[in-house]
Amino acid sequence: MNAGTRTRLDRMPQWSALAEHRERLGEVSLRGLFETDSGRSERYSLDVGDLHLDYSKHLVTDETLALLRDLAAATGVAGLRDAMFRGEKINITENRAVLHTALRAPRDAVVEVDGENVVPKVHAVLDKMAGFADSVRSGKWVGSTGRRIRNVVNIGIGGSDLGPAMAYEALRPFTERSLTFRFVSNVDGADLHEAVRDLDPAETLFIVASKTFTTIETVTNALSARTWLLDGLGGDEAAVPFHFVALSTNAAEVQKFGIDTENMFEFWDWVGGRYSFDSAIGLSLMIAIGPDRFRELLDGFHLVDEHFRTAPPEANAPLLLGLLGIWYGNFHDAQSHAVLPYSHYLSRFTAYLQQLDMESNGKSVDREGNPVHWQTGPVVWGTPGTNGQHAYYQLLHQGTKTIPADLLGFARPVAELGPELAAQHDLLMANLFAQGQALAFGKTAEEVRAEGVAEEQVAHRTFRGNHPTTTILAKELSPSVLGQLIALYEHKVFVQGAVWNIDSFDQWGVELGKVLAKRLEPAVGEGAEVPGLDSSTADLVAKYRAWRGR
Ligand code: F6P
Repeated sequence: MNAGTRTRLDRMPQWSALAEHRERLGEVSLRGLFETDSGRSERYSLDVGDLHLDYSKHLVTDETLALLRDLAAATGVAGLRDAMFRGEKINITENRAVLHTALRAPRDAVVEVDGENVVPKVHAVLDKMAGFADSVRSGKWVGSTGRRIRNVVNIGIGGSDLGPAMAYEALRPFTERSLTFRFVSNVDGADLHEAVRDLDPAETLFIVASKTFTTIETVTNALSARTWLLDGLGGDEAAVPFHFVALSTNAAEVQKFGIDTENMFEFWDWVGGRYSFDSAIGLSLMIAIGPDRFRELLDGFHLVDEHFRTAPPEANAPLLLGLLGIWYGNFHDAQSHAVLPYSHYLSRFTAYLQQLDMESNGKSVDREGNPVHWQTGPVVWGTPGTNGQHAYYQLLHQGTKTIPADLLGFARPVAELGPELAAQHDLLMANLFAQGQALAFGKTAEEVRAEGVAEEQVAHRTFRGNHPTTTILAKELSPSVLGQLIALYEHKVFVQGAVWNIDSFDQWGVELGKVLAKRLEPAVGEGAEVPGLDSSTADLVAKYRAWRGR
């Protein structure tokens, strides 16, 4: 795709066709759509790998979907996708290839960046990680006092934390339960304190995860962890290499920090931070679940990569999910998207998706730097069902906003629950199905009246319905299924960025806050003058210093 010559999105005939269609469709009713088409759920479902996607409860018709696909064709989604898979530098503001798909390519695949096949490098690192993971799991890798490692603490933030932390929770039943895993990200000292306060330094391994190895939170926490370790082990610096390894693209900074590059697991600038957890950034997860399970996870990713790359538009799940998001965000004025997993193990899944989606598509200029005249990425939010049902679902059902939602569930509870707890699974899943049903079809005033409800109460007890959901089901939450799910969302985000003509792979929006925090630190800590500081910030800093007793 030649991005430079692209017509403005909202001036494309395909965009206008969708706007007109939306107008014509008006307040389409999901009840009506289901009543007139008994095969709707079958026609509006897709099976991809181990995932079953039901998108029948969306405010769409065949015509809507066709028009959305026309928009995808006109905006060159397939061309940009192919360019990504080929290793072209589609991250234009950073002049980088975007090749997280190469991280899960099979050993014999060829993916070139600047004429070099990167797949052998990927597998060399995976092999090195596997050797290390095995030696920690088996007790061969020992700490400086000869004791085996029993605690693994990952120190990283953003993409160097959320992926492994989320996947560790998601795959807990597959983890080595004799090891303890902790994830430290916040520069609030309380995070590290709580993570290590009950650990024995002689048995603790720190994994310092940072693509750049310059991120202030991570470097600060890693230095404090080093102090904690040395305090606990008598102060001999020779202990450090036994207890610290690094995951990074930046060997020079790793060395400067004092970690032997022998103990560094590498990745590359063509892996975006939020797309990195299947790179060396996944080391803590690999130690937790073992190299074989980690490879199953990668295979799951790869399966959906191949689907996205090859499936026709009508049956391409990431394309479809991306376009449905565009339908609501751009033609129904939806501002947010809820992800509601009916699995306790997916407690961090939405937090992970927040970075993936909001850091990728929270942009307001197009790829050429022009302001966009259309809505871009949604606010992504949600927590596991059924907890959310007793908190914010009220707004989903009876509020004034359009909030498309994904309902995720699994047919089988994990084996180790035992029969009694496993029996609760039917109730959990009944809730998932019921919510999809209630959101879609609601309850009419007539139905409420028919129950004998007093007239003054009828409006309060009526549910308008027509709230769109996608239901994603799988047999079980395995490493492969987790990989499939994440790749599905990664490519969905890609599709939306391609249509909106934004660079989904940079994140300049995080820079200003970093710069200002650095500038303010001397004022906060030592009371230094910051020239030109606004009165609000100056007063807040003064109040802070006074309350801090400075
Ligand atoms: O603050 C944004 C960000 O750059 C993310 O994109 C990234 O995942 C995170 O910080 C951590 O960066 P690093 O891995 O370089 O420490």
